[in-house]
Amino acid sequence: MSEDKTDDIEIELLLQGIFLRYKYDFREYSRASVKRRLKSAMSRLNVATVSGLQEKTLHQPEFFFSLLQYLTVPVTEMFRDPAYFQALREKVLPHLSTYPSLKLWVAGCSTGEEAYSLAILLEEEGLLDRSIIYATDINPVSLKKAEAGIYRLEDIQKYTANYQKAGGKRSLSDYYVADYGAVAFQPLIRKKILFTDHSLATDNVFSETHFISCRNVMIYFEPELQNRAVGLFTESLARQGFLGIGEKESLQFSPHAVRYESVDRGMKIYRKVLERGL
Ligand SMILES: C[S@@+](CC[C@H](N)C(=O)[O-])C[C@H]1O[C@@H](n2cnc3c(N)ncnc32)[C@H](O)[C@@H]1O
Repeated sequence: MSEDKTDDIEIELLLQGIFLRYKYDFREYSRASVKRRLKSAMSRLNVATVSGLQEKTLHQPEFFFSLLQYLTVPVTEMFRDPAYFQALREKVLPHLSTYPSLKLWVAGCSTGEEAYSLAILLEEEGLLDRSIIYATDINPVSLKKAEAGIYRLEDIQKYTANYQKAGGKRSLSDYYVADYGAVAFQPLIRKKILFTDHSLATDNVFSETHFISCRNVMIYFEPELQNRAVGLFTESLARQGFLGIGEKESLQFSPHAVRYESVDRGMKIYRKVLERGL
């Protein structure tokens, strides 16, 4: 049997073991990406084989949580893809402003930058007061950072440029205080975001929402799991609610596509429509 095939068997067993032991389900994640991430974990954590990872994972929970940092990809930034936020400002928020109260969901929020960006956008459009943002992820380390709302000062230059490109109406510095090489977002923004653990692979819908943003998350999923995630979004969205999945992803091949009309083709923002016949 080739080396590659053996690797595949080991990966299958590891992912099954992780699911049975910890209920984190990576079995329907893109295998090529999981393979790359496990390779990197093996070299950084000094483990020679995937079976070696499995042994440690099953017997040492703290090792599993280190491995989880490799299996999830936390890369994010504030106002990432500024054109997406510009499109939300121009094409989505004017509709949302007709609701007396708003629930928004950032699924796969990583360390929180996307949720803080959305809160700022809502504040500038006069909607933050009546909004609550649920920001969810499976990585407890990322969620803890997100909750703290403290970011490195050296990243702020890039975030400020993104904010301006996204049509920011004030100065980004109006929303944070800087101290000792870090910035902390103001309570005005922070208190409107509820960071919580939720998996698109294993959990169910927790609330009705008016807008969902899920970007750079489903690219790591196989089509079956993408369908599960979009199914959750469809179930969660109120009538005529909005879904933003970002330019890298598409609903084109999804069985749920019939439930949506396009709002912004480039930024992949959709609006839920009534099922035919209803
Ligand atoms: C690349 S980050 C994207 C962050 C942000 N949405 C953005 O676009 O900048 C992907 C995030 O998805 C999270 N994630 C992976 N699998 C998930 C799942 N099953 N349910 C919820 N979040 C998940 C990861 O932990 C990671 O924080």
